[in-house]
Amino acid sequence: MTYVPEADLGTPAGRGTETVRVTVDGRTVEVSAGTSVMRAAGEAGINVPKLCATDSLEAFGSCRMCLVEVDGVRGTPASCTTPCTDGMVVTTQSDELGRLRRGVMELYLTDHPADCAGCARGNCEMQALAATVGVAEVRYPRREPARQHASYDETNPYFAYDPAACIVCSRCVRACAETQGTFALTVAGRGLESAISPGGTDFLSSECVSCGACVQACPTSALTEKSVIDLGMPTRAVDTTCAYCGVGCSFRAEVQGQGDGTRVVRMIPSKTGGANEGHSCVKGRFAYGYAHHPDRQLHPLVRDSIDDEWRVVTWEEAIAKVASGFKAIQDEYGIGAIGGISSSRCTNEEVYVVQQMVRAGFGNNNVDTCARVCHSPTGYGLKQTFGTSAGTQDFASVADADVILLIGANPTDAHPVFASRMKRRLREGARLIVADPRRIDLVRSPHVQAAYHLPLQPGSNVAFVNAMANVAVTEGLYDAAFLRERCENVDGYLAFIADPQHSPESVEPITGVPAATLREAARLYASARNSAIYYGLGVTEHSQGSTMVMGMANLAMVTGNIGRRGVGVNPLRGQNNVQGSCDMGSFPHELPGYRHISGDDVRAIYEQRWGRVLDPEPGLRIPNMFDAALTGTFRGVYIQGEDLAQSDPNTQHVQAALRAMDLVVVQDLFLNETARLAHVFLPGTSFLEKDGTFTNAERRINRVRPVFPPRQGKDEWQITCEIAQAMGYPMRYENAAEIMDEIAATTPTFAGVSFAALDAEGSMQWPVTAAAPHGTPTMHVGGFVRGKGLLVETVYVPTTERSNRRYPLILTTGRILTQYNVGSQTRRTDNNAWHLEDILEIHPADAEMRGISTGDLVQLSSRVGSTTLRARVSSRMPPGVVYTTFHHPVTGANVVTTENSDWATNCPEYKVTAVQVGVANARGETDLEAERRRAGVEYAHTP
Ligand code: SF4
Ligand code: SF4
Ligand code: SF4
Ligand code: FES
Repeated sequence: MTYVPEADLGTPAGRGTETVRVTVDGRTVEVSAGTSVMRAAGEAGINVPKLCATDSLEAFGSCRMCLVEVDGVRGTPASCTTPCTDGMVVTTQSDELGRLRRGVMELYLTDHPADCAGCARGNCEMQALAATVGVAEVRYPRREPARQHASYDETNPYFAYDPAACIVCSRCVRACAETQGTFALTVAGRGLESAISPGGTDFLSSECVSCGACVQACPTSALTEKSVIDLGMPTRAVDTTCAYCGVGCSFRAEVQGQGDGTRVVRMIPSKTGGANEGHSCVKGRFAYGYAHHPDRQLHPLVRDSIDDEWRVVTWEEAIAKVASGFKAIQDEYGIGAIGGISSSRCTNEEVYVVQQMVRAGFGNNNVDTCARVCHSPTGYGLKQTFGTSAGTQDFASVADADVILLIGANPTDAHPVFASRMKRRLREGARLIVADPRRIDLVRSPHVQAAYHLPLQPGSNVAFVNAMANVAVTEGLYDAAFLRERCENVDGYLAFIADPQHSPESVEPITGVPAATLREAARLYASARNSAIYYGLGVTEHSQGSTMVMGMANLAMVTGNIGRRGVGVNPLRGQNNVQGSCDMGSFPHELPGYRHISGDDVRAIYEQRWGRVLDPEPGLRIPNMFDAALTGTFRGVYIQGEDLAQSDPNTQHVQAALRAMDLVVVQDLFLNETARLAHVFLPGTSFLEKDGTFTNAERRINRVRPVFPPRQGKDEWQITCEIAQAMGYPMRYENAAEIMDEIAATTPTFAGVSFAALDAEGSMQWPVTAAAPHGTPTMHVGGFVRGKGLLVETVYVPTTERSNRRYPLILTTGRILTQYNVGSQTRRTDNNAWHLEDILEIHPADAEMRGISTGDLVQLSSRVGSTTLRARVSSRMPPGVVYTTFHHPVTGANVVTTENSDWATNCPEYKVTAVQVGVANARGETDLEAERRRAGVEYAHTP
């Protein structure tokens, strides 16, 4: 697509349900009531000049550039602030309007640098507008406000602020407030001396979270991407999807050049993107440079032993080594001795072929995915209760929520674009309940104040959610009609949950939340018109992760909060394609579409298409693969795009398992921690090279389109197919579209999906069926996928991981905004400006007791391992709980996490690890360890 900027209709669409007809310059157009005259003109294909208006922001009416004439109305009203009325007749061009606009423009230019017309940055609406309205020179004496002499702010790594070019239209200030919800910018000073200020400091030191909304909104080149300053304007654009988190934002990759010589100039979030509607976060908008980082491996590598040096080989040699190695293992140890692990960072098409290769090519079901370690309990819990393993709503649904219950999620860091939506709804008056041990930003941030923050003790989620439901039931706040008509096991569940053992008073010693507060929060949730639950890994990564998911489903059903907009149970998925990798049959027990492998009818569909008999028995999960490797029965694995040695719990155990195998094949962008233990490295592709689809947390299937060809020469699905072929299983596709056609032909929920349909619709939320040809934004309307919703008696069982005298604190983990997961992508971008190392947060009382101050190097030890990192004393933490991220391999926070896992899915219990923290010396040792070393006692990192 050649470069045409996205159209800007000046103001948002009207929200009225009725329509009105207006005539603009002789063209009649029908718009929703409340639409501005400016937007109606835009919809009629007529551009009204504007400076302070843009269609992502509410009209402001300050520049007076957009004046129009309206029949029967005196004067020249501003078209951006004038709503259309039925029968209105508007004129946008006349001699008088031209004269007025030229006068306004001249006044702007008197305060502007004299060389405006010659400025070559190329992305300035005002420069173009001056030419359009016909201002060649300024008749008035020039004025020089102080901002013309203020220095450039180049502190942000991705964009620069040139005060001299600023016209103080406040679009940036409003974008930061309305779109992003951060309120980092203000207009400082008055009149001629007014200027934009990021809170009286520079951008990098300010509250700014570098989302880029202000840069996108700026009509001059005052706020400009540094990449545009360096490279100049783009020449073409490609519509694609962010490859970071599960929000799944749509972007226009704006680029220069063709083929291998393509350079990304900037990423502009698409206004038509269903998930993001024109917004983005710092990762999606700016952190794409890793695709060209010099660490990127572009050639296949092999070695016989992990102690050898890597040898660069051809694709043919590498694939032959993989195939012969896997076949030799199967010949000696049986067909079950190898397996594959797919990645939630890869496309649906890439993941689909991995499970196909394992099931049909390897002849077993030893396939698993990284979703095992994050949202597998979501899949299990929602399937049991509702009948399908996915969230119930689209993101836009939150705009109709009156109460939002946020459990174990930190959207401002982990799902920032959804957080901005949520904050907008909270500013409109929705109430927020935050259940999280840590005082996350949403508890209190500009113009947002949670009604309740319930700092749960890690591991007490099920006791908490049962108490919420107990209050709803015992205080008569439940929806009896909904239960009667739509649910099963109603009497059994009501009797179970009404038991006094589940009351807030009974669980107070477990949750640590005062009973009265929990009771009030439960009343708020249960009594609202629309209450919605959003949750994250703070729910799933527990030994009772699946039970908690079912507990939340119970709560929603008991209160009738399911099956319409504004309600529901919604997982905030971690990686971009977690939903998709699960949908594509990556679990050992399920074929695509969550159909159990034991089903003869389902297996028959694939046996016919793939020409192989499939094993009806589920294969090994990731932890089972590791255990089997250590006992010698599992000896080879193909790992697609996942850094198990860093992301999985109990690193020592993972490393020992990988070391025990004969053939470890890693397919990735970089030589990651897992590749240190691999025998073959197959270079992968970044999202900028992929052709396919990602499915986000709202079941939205988005297209991913290649911006340039695979830098290492092959699509990832092609690599997988070639391994299968070399092993004797003929597996060929012409392109990714053909793989999606097979997915659609074999998976009922994807029946109506194809690349052509996605190109036409923009995106689609599954199920896409004959009954719902455009997709399904809200699930379980009128009935559940499983028929009746199942109320499950969710018995609270305490985790076996408890604090004790030796490990008196509980460690919980999470993410930070600017880094992503194990950091292999973001650490190779300028996002390091914000977060260079993992930090341990500790409550002041716990810190004081241990003599720890902010900035101290501390040692964090659990019963399985220890690591050293820097501390931050923070009252965000409750006493007894410490927190860190796992973005940096040097810290290796998973060295200390244990192998405890969810009873149903084996999802690791990352959120509860009993630990001790002590000040470390320069060697990273605690006092005790230093004493041992000095005494000659063998130093051991594993206590
Ligand atoms: S980049 Fe985002 S957060 Fe920062 S000032 Fe601009 S709009 Fe606000
Ligand atoms: S920086 Fe740009 S958007 Fe902000 S006030 Fe100045 S000209 Fe307007
Ligand atoms: S919110 Fe998530 S999907 Fe959207 S731009 Fe940020 S990282 Fe990408
Ligand atoms: S665009 Fe309407 S007043 Fe500025």
